[in-house]
Amino acid sequence: MCGIVGYIGFREASDVIIKGLKRLEYRGYDSAGIAILNGEVIIKKGKGKVVNLEKMVLNGPAKGTVGIGHTRWATHGEPNDVNAHPHSDGKHDFAIVHNGIIENYDSLKKELISKGHTFDGQTDTEVLAHLIEEIQKVAEVDFETAVQLALKQVDGTYGLAIVNKHEKDKIIVARKGSPLLLGIGDNEVFIASDASPIIEYTNKVVYLDDDEMAVITREGYQVKTISNIELNKQVHELEMNIEQIEKGGFPHFMLKEIHEQSDTIADCMRGRLMVEENRVVLGGIERVLDRLVNARRLVIAACGTSWHAGLVGEYLLEYIAKLPVEVEYASEFRYRQPLIDSNDILLVISQSGETADTLAAVREARERGALVIGICNVVGSTIARETDAGIYTHAGPEIGVASTKAFTAQVTVLSMMAILLGQRRKVLGEADAKEMIHALHGIPAQVASIMEKQDQIDTISRLFAYAPNFLYLGRSYNFPVALEGALKLKEISYIHAEGYPAAEMKHGPIALIDEHMPVVVLAVTDHTNDKMISNIEEVRARKGRVIAITTENNHDVRNLAEFCITIPETHDVLTPLLTVIPLQILSYQIAVYRKCHVDQPRNLAKSVTVE
Ligand code: M6R
Repeated sequence: MCGIVGYIGFREASDVIIKGLKRLEYRGYDSAGIAILNGEVIIKKGKGKVVNLEKMVLNGPAKGTVGIGHTRWATHGEPNDVNAHPHSDGKHDFAIVHNGIIENYDSLKKELISKGHTFDGQTDTEVLAHLIEEIQKVAEVDFETAVQLALKQVDGTYGLAIVNKHEKDKIIVARKGSPLLLGIGDNEVFIASDASPIIEYTNKVVYLDDDEMAVITREGYQVKTISNIELNKQVHELEMNIEQIEKGGFPHFMLKEIHEQSDTIADCMRGRLMVEENRVVLGGIERVLDRLVNARRLVIAACGTSWHAGLVGEYLLEYIAKLPVEVEYASEFRYRQPLIDSNDILLVISQSGETADTLAAVREARERGALVIGICNVVGSTIARETDAGIYTHAGPEIGVASTKAFTAQVTVLSMMAILLGQRRKVLGEADAKEMIHALHGIPAQVASIMEKQDQIDTISRLFAYAPNFLYLGRSYNFPVALEGALKLKEISYIHAEGYPAAEMKHGPIALIDEHMPVVVLAVTDHTNDKMISNIEEVRARKGRVIAITTENNHDVRNLAEFCITIPETHDVLTPLLTVIPLQILSYQIAVYRKCHVDQPRNLAKSVTVE
């Protein structure tokens, strides 16, 4: 987590950095800081969001055209002024910003204390600064070599940037496990954790890989390994634009992203869903398609919302393609010695493409010889680059911490993949494929029609905004959607919510139901309809407040539920793409009623790059 921005060139560095840090605040927002080179290293930092840092800089400008900045998601040391980045060495010669965790910081710190170093705060990053200082003093090497030697001594992960007052036209950056890229302009270079801070200046980027560093000057950059082997890195051209990363008139990114979904789902299918030809083309996995078609099973690993999409994928791939699927939490995958080998295929799903646990699963599976395929949103992200093949979701930048459009794009990809594999495995007939492809093609317009229900959902949101608990129930394809609805509510409204397979309710959670408990029931017209109706009756019998999401023609559910939000009819297997939308809106509106910080909920970060 944490966001890093750096700049060297001809502009006022603090302007570029503060603007960039605002764009990266989704990565963490406990504290923020900046270091500008101007003869000295001028550091300004403090607890709170980037806007506080901006005020500090306005009150006492830090002038200069070289600098680095940081927005923090605390790992080691509470979020306070002292622990805010940048950190310095004992002599205040240089400043460092760091994303990641130095796992052996405690032993390094003890050793440094025994050599006379004193520390102001509790962070692992400050230890790294003192380690570099100590190495430079003892080994009598230049600064760059000292950084290299220090990085060889640390265990853990880092994306870091350093400025040194003795090297006034230089920034050193390095990466291991935490993303970092360079934006290449004319006589200026930008550094950032992702492309959003730099896209308004340049679309030319160089991605650093693990164990690489770069020495950046106004004139350009040299990338090398930590062991000092010079590299010739490819320059990539980004396709995103500035409008995609601005709110576009919406009060929050989350609401903007909820509204974008009819477009993003359509973008995700463009050139892939061939309605006339009754087939699906997924160029990113073409090369490995035979392996997929003949696979004995597929293992899916992901975290959070992406894991929920993976669960929907399990239902889709097993039902449509008759391919056995196991879905794993990426965070558990490598710790249980997974039985996966060169006959297996791991499919990882990640919006950011940087989630540390998912990346660890990728590496574990590759080490064991498995084929690894990715479904990622961020183009050029680490997971996208480290997988053998993959499919981009093309949902555009997702800034709100609560994932919305990424989920529907992931489910769209999984639906297309299931149809493609079903046809190739000869288990999905032409007529059934046609029905699904047509239904999928119609989803964007149906999603747009659900947006018109916001006022109706608002009545429910207002009524239940202060409920202490929520229960979400679903069956089959909509069980993962129940989990997703509960997660959305938890993370942005801080209301305790649980998602359950509806049938499990009577094995425990039913004890919670009374007249104060809102129960969101996903009860669409499908093969589980009768059973869902029984569950609604069971909730009603205990005076629970039923909020049903159902299909337009489902009069049974509409008559039974206290509140009802309808979605248009679609193919049963595609209902998650529609049922999730009212749940996203519900959680958004409740968060707004509760005056919660929708886009930056407490304790969270968009991209979880620590394990
Ligand atoms: O970038 P990823 O899809 O790998 O992220 C996985 C989770 O961290 C993410 O989905 C998280 O659960 C969201 N905050 C949920 O809204």
